[in-house]
Amino acid sequence: MKNVLVIGGTGFLGSAIVRELARRPASADCCFTLPTRRRERAKHLLVLPTASIIEADVHDPATLARLMTGQDAVISLVGVLKGGEGEPYGKGFARAHVELPQKIAAAARTAGVRRVLHVSALKAAVDAPSGYLRSKAAGEAVLREAGLDLTLFRPSVIFGAGDSFLTLFARLARIAPFFPLAGANARFQPVWVEDVAAVVADSLLRPETIGATYDLCGPTQYNLRELVSYAVAVAGHPRLVIGLPEAVAWLQAWAMEFIPNGPMTRDNIRSMRVASVCDVGCTLPFGRVATPLEIVAPTYLRG
Ligand SMILES: NC(=O)c1ccc[n+]([C@@H]2O[C@H](COP(=O)([O-])OP(=O)(O)OC[C@H]3O[C@@H](n4cnc5c(N)ncnc54)[C@H](OP(=O)(O)O)[C@@H]3O)[C@@H](O)[C@H]2O)c1
Repeated sequence: MKNVLVIGGTGFLGSAIVRELARRPASADCCFTLPTRRRERAKHLLVLPTASIIEADVHDPATLARLMTGQDAVISLVGVLKGGEGEPYGKGFARAHVELPQKIAAAARTAGVRRVLHVSALKAAVDAPSGYLRSKAAGEAVLREAGLDLTLFRPSVIFGAGDSFLTLFARLARIAPFFPLAGANARFQPVWVEDVAAVVADSLLRPETIGATYDLCGPTQYNLRELVSYAVAVAGHPRLVIGLPEAVAWLQAWAMEFIPNGPMTRDNIRSMRVASVCDVGCTLPFGRVATPLEIVAPTYLRG
C-alpha cells in the first residue's frame, strides 16, 4: 500500500488518519494524495512529507480517474451534515454520500484499484429517520455492490481536538447564558478521533478486514444533555441546559437552516431519533481499547 488516495482527507477525521499513517514506519516511503476543494483548508497537512495536497473536484469523473491512476488503495471520507430536505434524502446528501461513492467505485474499477476503505456513520440504514443516515446507507450499498475489496467503518459521534461537536458547545457557552437544547435525550457513544484513525490505519494493512464492517464507539454512552453540560463545565462556563420540546426544537432547527453555517437542521434532529450507540457495548477491533472522553476532552476544551 504505497500510494493511497484519501478523498475527504483534509477534514477532521481524514487529517487524523493521514497523520496516523504518516507516523507508522511502514509508511515511510508511502505517498498520500489528498484532493481538496480549497488548498488553504489543508495547510495543517502541508508539513507531512508523505502527503500531496491537490486542489481538485472529485465529483468530476475525469479528475477522479486521474487521481485514481497508480493508487494502491482509496480511503473515502467525504461527508456532509447538511444536505437539504427530500425523499429519500436531500440533493446535497445524494451528491456527497451516494453519487460520489458511485463515481469512486467506477474510477477505482477502471484504474484497477481494488482496496477501498469507506467511512459511513453508525446506524446508517435505508429506513433510518434522517436523510443523512439513509444516504449513508445508500453509499455503503453502492460500494458493497461494486465488488471491491471493501472495509466499512461506522463511527458514533467523533470527539477530539478540532471537533465540531464538543468544541461547538464549549464556544457557544462563552456567549450563551443558558442552553436551549434540541435532542437533549438523544444518545451517543462518542469515540476519540485518534482511535478511529488508528483502526482505519490498521485496516489498510490487514487483508482480513476486507469485507468487514466495523461499528466504532467509545467506552461510555451519554445523552446529549450530559455531553453538553460536561463540555461547557470543562470549558469553564457551566450553563443551565434546557431540553426543548420536540415542536420547539423543530422550529428552532428550521429557523437555523436560513443561517449560513447554522448549528442545526431538521434532518439533524431526525438523526438524533435513533441512538448512536454500539449494540454490544464498547467496540473497537484489533484488541484496541477505546479512550474515555473524560481523559481527552479537557485537553482541548479548557481555556
Ligand atoms: N465527525 C463525526 O463526528 C463523524 C461521525 C460519524 C461519521 N462521520 C463521517 O466521517 C467522515 C469524515 O467526517 P469529518 O468529521 O472528518 O468531516 P469534515 O471535517 O467535515 O471533513 C469533510 C471532508 O470532506 C470533504 N468534503 C466535504 N464536502 C464535500 C463535497 N461536497 N465535495 C467534496 N469534498 C467534500 C472536505 O474537503 P475540502 O478540503 O474540500 O473541504 C473534507 O476533507 C464523513 O463521511 C462523516 O460523515 C463523522
